[in-house]
Amino acid sequence: MHKIALATIALSLIAAPALAGPKEDAVAERQAYFKKLGGNMGPLAKLLKGDYDAATAQQHADALADLTTQDISGLFVEGTSTEDMPGKTEALPVIWEDMDGFATKYEALATAAANLKAEAGKGKAQLAAAFGPVGASCKSCHDGFRD
Ligand code: HEC
Repeated sequence: MHKIALATIALSLIAAPALAGPKEDAVAERQAYFKKLGGNMGPLAKLLKGDYDAATAQQHADALADLTTQDISGLFVEGTSTEDMPGKTEALPVIWEDMDGFATKYEALATAAANLKAEAGKGKAQLAAAFGPVGASCKSCHDGFRD
């Protein structure tokens, strides 16, 4: 009895994403990824505006830096641009035409985030100095590659 129930659960876990399709999955996954970036930038911005707390700053800087060590190229599957899936994604076709340029923007983010990780826990001024370049690297990629 239990075995059957577990097998059914396992099957439904496998079947659910398969129904949505690999392209929809990739879009959902990369949007979730970018939301996590935003989810760590927000609290850091708040710390800059309000009371600085070293532990909280370090926690979000660590999480952000960890995220940017991920290889996200697998989330940018062919055929998942704004042209292919209008209304479902903000990823411009130029990403696939200029993968190198896109990767360079991502590397710039990783570099800025690694510096943020090194500086965020040292004080508000250090956090502020390291936070700016991270925000700029987000914007720099969005300007060229996101609708
Ligand atoms: C290398 C390019 C690149 C960098 C760097 C980048 N983004 Fe993005 N971001 C994108 C693209 C492309 C999308 C659109 C994804 C989609 O809709 O499929 C996006 C979408 C988003 C979204 C919307 C997600 C959703 O709910 O659909 C948020 C929030 C976001 N980015 C935040 C950030 C933050 C914060 C940073 C910096 C810490 C950042 N991004 C850095 C390319 C980038």
